[in-house]
Amino acid sequence: MKILILYHSGAGNTRLLSRWICEKLSGKHKVEIAHIHSKYNKEYLQNFDLLVFGFPTHHAAPSLSMTEYIHHLKSFETPAKAFIFTTYGLYPGNSLRIFAKMLNKKNIKVLSYQKFRSPATDGVLLFSSKLRFMFRFEKNITNKLHSFTKEISNAMELTKNLIPPYQWYVPLNDLIKPFGIKYYENLKYQMHIIPALCTNCNLCVNICERKAWKENDPIPLFRRENCEFCLECVHKCPTEAIVFSKKMQKKPRLNKKFYSKAKAELKNK
Ligand SMILES: Cc1cc2nc3c(=O)[nH]c(=O)nc-3n(C[C@H](O)[C@H](O)[C@H](O)COP(=O)(O)O)c2cc1C
Repeated sequence: MKILILYHSGAGNTRLLSRWICEKLSGKHKVEIAHIHSKYNKEYLQNFDLLVFGFPTHHAAPSLSMTEYIHHLKSFETPAKAFIFTTYGLYPGNSLRIFAKMLNKKNIKVLSYQKFRSPATDGVLLFSSKLRFMFRFEKNITNKLHSFTKEISNAMELTKNLIPPYQWYVPLNDLIKPFGIKYYENLKYQMHIIPALCTNCNLCVNICERKAWKENDPIPLFRRENCEFCLECVHKCPTEAIVFSKKMQKKPRLNKKFYSKAKAELKNK
């Protein structure tokens, strides 16, 4: 089976799990993995028997980059098949349900779905570092990953179309959601680089798919209108120079070291 794994990831949770799934499937199938990118248009996607989409939940919905990617995808003439998963920090709301419906509009059927509780890429910067659960993947994550991967591996004969059920707590979440979005919008307004820490290495410029950072001397320029607040630049900046408040300046980042350790832990479980 020819499988394409397409993911969007900010700090790196979804990337790590996508790569884990890719590695497990690669022995048995022909697998390609990529961050969502314009080159992956419908014509390209048609070369695969199965698509796997992974994305972070942002405000109880699929991330903006993933939403826009699907929005721009042309509809398939004959139904395509997909597995979908999301990574989330606390509660995913109807994120998978919303995404499944978006795929259906493009004539992509959802064979199965999964959610993986992961480090809270926003929470670790906003709350106390003593809240250790915010830095961890859920306990049984490798079991869940194994069974999800097994399901993908046996998907060839499947023809169903699953829409994840509506979550009972979503109306409660909807009450606070506008405040959450506004709060994060305000944080975005405060996003800046501490000049004394910036080495102008341009990593932020190079990694941001949305071009929210522009090359400049002596430090990159922030283009707020492009930013979706995925926090990739904040977590990856090698000198921790990108901040959105004084309070978060000292907060630990989910950086290279963090993900190497997380990768090793997933392997050993
Ligand atoms: C702007 C933003 C909004 C978020 N909203 C939610 C949310 O509504 N529910 C939740 O459980 N986690 C939320 N999170 C946490 C992420 O979903 C979680 O950490 C995810 O695994 C990040 O994946 P990534 O590292 O691949 O970007 C949010 C994170 C960010 C940055």
